Amino acid sequence: MTNQTKYETHEHDVLIIGAGGAGLRAAIEALAAGARVAVVSKSLLGKAHTVMAEGGIAAAMANVDKADSWKTHFRDTMRGGKLVNNWRMAQLHAQESPERVRELEQWGALFDRTSDGDILQRAFGGHTFKRLCHVGDRTGLEMIRTLQDRGVQLGIDVFMECTVIRLLTDGNRVVGAFGYWREQGRFVVLKAKAVVMATGGIGKAWPVTSNSWECTGDGMALAYEAGADLLDMEFVQFHPTGMVWPPGVQGLLVTEAVRGEGGILRNKLGERFMEKYDPKRMELSTRDLVARSIYTEVKEGRGSEHGGAFLDISHKPPEYVKQKLPSMYHQFKELADVDITKGPMEVGPTCHYMMGGIRVDAETTAASLPGLFAAGESAAGLHGANRLGGNSLSDLVVFGRRAGLEASAFAAKSPAGGIDSGQIAEAEHDMLAPFERGDGENPYTVHRDLQNVMQNLVGIFRTEEDLTTALAELEKLKQRATRLRVEGSRLFNPGWHLARDLKCMLIVSEAVARSALARKESRGAHSRIDCPNPDEQWGKQNNVISREGDRMKLRQIPVKEMPDELRELVADDK
Ligand code: FUM
Repeated sequence: MTNQTKYETHEHDVLIIGAGGAGLRAAIEALAAGARVAVVSKSLLGKAHTVMAEGGIAAAMANVDKADSWKTHFRDTMRGGKLVNNWRMAQLHAQESPERVRELEQWGALFDRTSDGDILQRAFGGHTFKRLCHVGDRTGLEMIRTLQDRGVQLGIDVFMECTVIRLLTDGNRVVGAFGYWREQGRFVVLKAKAVVMATGGIGKAWPVTSNSWECTGDGMALAYEAGADLLDMEFVQFHPTGMVWPPGVQGLLVTEAVRGEGGILRNKLGERFMEKYDPKRMELSTRDLVARSIYTEVKEGRGSEHGGAFLDISHKPPEYVKQKLPSMYHQFKELADVDITKGPMEVGPTCHYMMGGIRVDAETTAASLPGLFAAGESAAGLHGANRLGGNSLSDLVVFGRRAGLEASAFAAKSPAGGIDSGQIAEAEHDMLAPFERGDGENPYTVHRDLQNVMQNLVGIFRTEEDLTTALAELEKLKQRATRLRVEGSRLFNPGWHLARDLKCMLIVSEAVARSALARKESRGAHSRIDCPNPDEQWGKQNNVISREGDRMKLRQIPVKEMPDELRELVADDK
């Protein structure tokens, strides 16, 4: 039955895959519930995309704007998401965020303060009130530091530089994972009664992205392959402001906090172009709209020298800029030789976040496979068609906590499952195949070609023709990926790691393109030039992707009906 003798094997109640904010928060909760917990990180502990949410965590604390409440936060989130969000997730998120922020503070997070000593909150796009609790422009970093300290103090087992390559199932229940140590290339079996997926997003399928090498859609692909549903994969967020120059740092995030603190966007003619696109909210419009506006300005010939727009905060006193935006000050000084207290930054859209992901139950975070839970960016539903800035960090702690709680409860009532040696042998064979080929494709070349397809055909603006071409190109790339060849040994071999990551990126990219082709309307971050308006019927449907043998199946499910008292909150006239 089992291959435990052949492989290093570890056994826990709850296995958490991913060590960003959601994974760490889940681990803390599961430990508190008495479970034996392991966290597996593809990278080093502390290095997570969570740190790229720089400007703040959204929570209706009402410290600065006294009129704020969970109801307004709920409304903003739903309207930002164009009403295809899972309303119950949005409600729980808005109600529970303040408590999660206070908890972070108790655990040592040093938020900036108001003159009264409360946690300071700043403005962000699409939020009616000043709602983002922050630590300068390093909020995600402070959160990771806090959660990591807390988790290590409580005694989580952390497996660093370990990549999971397959979920193991007993029947259709998830009972662990099979992975390998990136350093030595040795395989490892991780048995668990429940698994929490918290692996983040898929930014590396695009060439211009704020994401780093870890973000290859692993959790979504692993869950899909094991039989779980994916939801609304067409909704990919392009953050309006990434660096555009110099080329080596293209895509690196320029926090929305620059606009939150008063930064102004201009084109090369000096026009404050947001006046045209959203005269009411201007630079603090929602991300989908600001990204499209910058893209349009550049496309129509009004862009900056390097193909972006100008973002200027230099009208504020230098000391204010350095205090509020210390990272941005250093980032531009060191990487672009630009002093942002004296002149503008050059910025343009960068692939930042995936609203789609593993379909989960709002209360429990349970995926459609027993034993599997998901939280954070790898899960879907909360943000609908477009996420508001700062809602990612609150998402991580609200649903990370729920995932830890529910996974440990599931583990407590479940016997250990059986490990199928056939599944392990198959995963091992697939993983080692690129070493066996005398001739074949270079993973780096296939990755570059994938990124070009996604950037050119599945980007900010989409058409039926482009998406159809993208699917045909992805099919060719999938074929090429069956012939990948890597040289060298299993000892820390980045080409081999990429060969594995490509498999995940190809699955997720196909899911994105299929869902985008199906949704014949424009909504939030999904913008179809050939169907430029929202469609009433599509506004009532979510796209679901699931696996049927070797085929990807797409179907639509109705958006869950909101209760009347919540529907009133999101009504137009409110
Ligand atoms: O712009 C930012 O600081 C990013 C925040 C987020 O993605 O939530």
